[in-house]
Amino acid sequence: MGLSPEQNAMPPEALLEWYVEMGADEAISDAETNWFAASEAAAAPVPRAENAPAAIRTAAQAPAPVSVASAQAQPRVPASGAGPATDKAAATLAGAAQSLEELRAALESLDGFPLKVTATNLVFGEGVETPDVMFIGEAPGADEDRQGRPFVGASGRLLDRMMRSIGLDRAENAYITNILPWRPPGNREPTAAEIAICLPFIRRHIALVRPRIVVPVGGTAAKTLLDQRQGIMRLRGRRFEFLDPDLEQPVPAVPLFHPAFLLRSGGQKALAWRDLLTIKQIIQ
Ligand code: URA
Repeated sequence: MGLSPEQNAMPPEALLEWYVEMGADEAISDAETNWFAASEAAAAPVPRAENAPAAIRTAAQAPAPVSVASAQAQPRVPASGAGPATDKAAATLAGAAQSLEELRAALESLDGFPLKVTATNLVFGEGVETPDVMFIGEAPGADEDRQGRPFVGASGRLLDRMMRSIGLDRAENAYITNILPWRPPGNREPTAAEIAICLPFIRRHIALVRPRIVVPVGGTAAKTLLDQRQGIMRLRGRRFEFLDPDLEQPVPAVPLFHPAFLLRSGGQKALAWRDLLTIKQIIQ
């Protein structure tokens, strides 16, 4: 990244802080990449896609990866040149997915969504279908973005321990995903617009996974999925119903503190333990 004369004059700690604030909080390559040159190249006029040899097609023109099963079924969101993704286009794409593979392909084919460009990987979800519990967090962090798997960092390790304490395991009887499948740069909070685009996908994800219980993990997930305004302090441990036209019946939902919060505020673990017991009781 090129620096201005003012930035060059900054003390190293202040410069580092500035990088983190801008979302550049991890090194992903030993060599420097000139992103300005890359975006200028992308903006330059190119021959019409159908006439251009494959080697000079831009990323926007290249066909997005779509699974064979979904190739016929998926309506495509307009290519990125056609503007930003809309809630309506997201709902059409998500609604057409008939399986988890198709839903993943639908997300991969969504264009005009900036988080896709800044993220390293799509973090779709993992676990078993028709699980006892589907845990839904906010968005991937740096570890998850790097590995393309949900909840694999420090808070993921705590979530695994919390799950195990009530007999749950992502390999056996649970499923884990997030409201947003792409990491917001620098782990900033997702915006309302980003959540609105991702909402049809997570709703469809729940309908396809068909869990016995939904557990929103943290305030963002709880408010988004349960359409509530109160914060997690008031929502946690209470029993709600998750409703969706694609589900035959309402699914019980019990919001849980986010493990990242519990790592910072150990004093709240007793409440989280109580909420885990509520979840266990519902399973039984
Ligand atoms: N926090 C989340 O909300 N989700 C993850 O996958 C990791 C951390």
